[in-house]
Amino acid sequence: MRKIYIFDTTLRDGEQSPGVNLNTKEKLEIAYQLEKLGVDRIEAGFPAASPGDLAAVNAVARAVKNATVIGLSRSREQDIDAVVEALKGAQDPCLHLFLATSPIHRKHKLRMEKEQVLETAERAIRYAKQFFSKIEFSAEDAGRTELDFLCQVTDMAIKAGASVINIPDTVGYMNPSEYGHIFKTLKEQVPGIEKIQLSAHCHDDLGMATANALAAILNGADQIEGTINGIGERAGNTAIEEVAMALATRSDFFGATTGLNLKEIAKTSRLVSRLTGMVVPGNKAIVGANAFAHESGIHQDGMLKEKTTYEIISPETIGLIDSKLVLGKHSGRAAFREKLIDLGYELSDEAVNGAFAKFKDLADKKKNVSDEDIRAMLEEKLVDAPEVYTLEQIQVSYGNQSTPNATLSIRMADGSVQETRAEGNGSVDAIYNAIDALTSETVELEDYSIKSVTHGKDALGEVHVVLKQGDVSAQGRGVSTDILEASARAYVDALNRLVEKRKTPGRRDKMSLI
Ligand code: KIV
Ligand code: ZN
Repeated sequence: MRKIYIFDTTLRDGEQSPGVNLNTKEKLEIAYQLEKLGVDRIEAGFPAASPGDLAAVNAVARAVKNATVIGLSRSREQDIDAVVEALKGAQDPCLHLFLATSPIHRKHKLRMEKEQVLETAERAIRYAKQFFSKIEFSAEDAGRTELDFLCQVTDMAIKAGASVINIPDTVGYMNPSEYGHIFKTLKEQVPGIEKIQLSAHCHDDLGMATANALAAILNGADQIEGTINGIGERAGNTAIEEVAMALATRSDFFGATTGLNLKEIAKTSRLVSRLTGMVVPGNKAIVGANAFAHESGIHQDGMLKEKTTYEIISPETIGLIDSKLVLGKHSGRAAFREKLIDLGYELSDEAVNGAFAKFKDLADKKKNVSDEDIRAMLEEKLVDAPEVYTLEQIQVSYGNQSTPNATLSIRMADGSVQETRAEGNGSVDAIYNAIDALTSETVELEDYSIKSVTHGKDALGEVHVVLKQGDVSAQGRGVSTDILEASARAYVDALNRLVEKRKTPGRRDKMSLI
């Protein structure tokens, strides 16, 4: 079996998804989980984008022990210097340099002729060679680059000292046979190609990112770049879990494998979804809620007779456990602790006690507390932002003939509890107006989404919001059996994170790759 290296860019290209903004703690939590998943390489960010990003990449570089940590850089000395700084302390550092090569980018973005592109990239690789033994070079928009020029660029990058050459389909324009053909041509025509690894980096604008990555593998790619849940710029990147499961399920066809610990896929997907606030669609391959659900009678009948009639992957393979232990209000601490272990949580005694109290509260409101309820309850807070504001009480009045209003109290940082009443054009609007009045924060609600954690009228509701203040935005999450309370909790959570972000100097909000 050929080994295919997995380059995870959830923390860089994934973070370029609209509305996503990960702080250092969140990046670290995801990086630890990526290590458990067994990815070979972790692209932690773009250090030149801001001092905040540089610090986050450095924290990941120092923390990760079992994967190469990578920093992105334009083909400029000051960007390379920023990556040198950011990767200090990394066990296995790697620089990821890029420069656009396609005619469209050369003419309109770079205003460079082919020769200048070659010279600029070569100069950057040679400069970087003083600091890094591992350098990946990406020919941005390779998919739309003339194939003979791409061969020239690859030849130059090998001679200058790159160890991985990446062929990005930056705008998701390729189809599998075209994209595969690029790899085949490079393999056949570029001298010394056997000395380096070829990498595929695809975007999903036409829904072909996974198919294109697999076509690259069939034509000689050694490495696949992608993100968990396929998040990323615009329509996203290749979903790593899809490539890994395609190779695992169809090893007869691909004859290739990844080093991933497949049982960590579900957990990694949930973590990334929670911390980025990007909900995984129910019908998403591998990690969607319906990926293993069988609805039609014919399918259910087949499944009961023999699972393989309609199931090509067992849910256990990706770490979805079929837990038989159903908890309710009569369940005791021991059963609850057992369930936490089953779900993969390692909590201190104190944390178990706190979680148990919350569970009892929930079990009073809900007959059966499912695994998903427990996860939602435990993972409500994104990553423990210090609580400047704490929601204390909430009372909402709604009638279709009257103006909705909310009375709400919040505990402030100084310990005082303040209360106010506000009206709005709906119940959520009234709640948010009351919170704004109490906190004197001026924010814009950029995004609001709500979903039910499980089925049924007593299901937990989970609300996700994105708040913007000037050029800083922050997300928040709230979970409750009542959607209005969940809405309030999410808003307060986001406010706490906004306050925290304001304190972080140089934290940029969006990466600008020019
Ligand atoms: O899509 C792309 O071209 C990129 C590069 C920076 C590798 O993300
Ligand atoms: Zn990309």
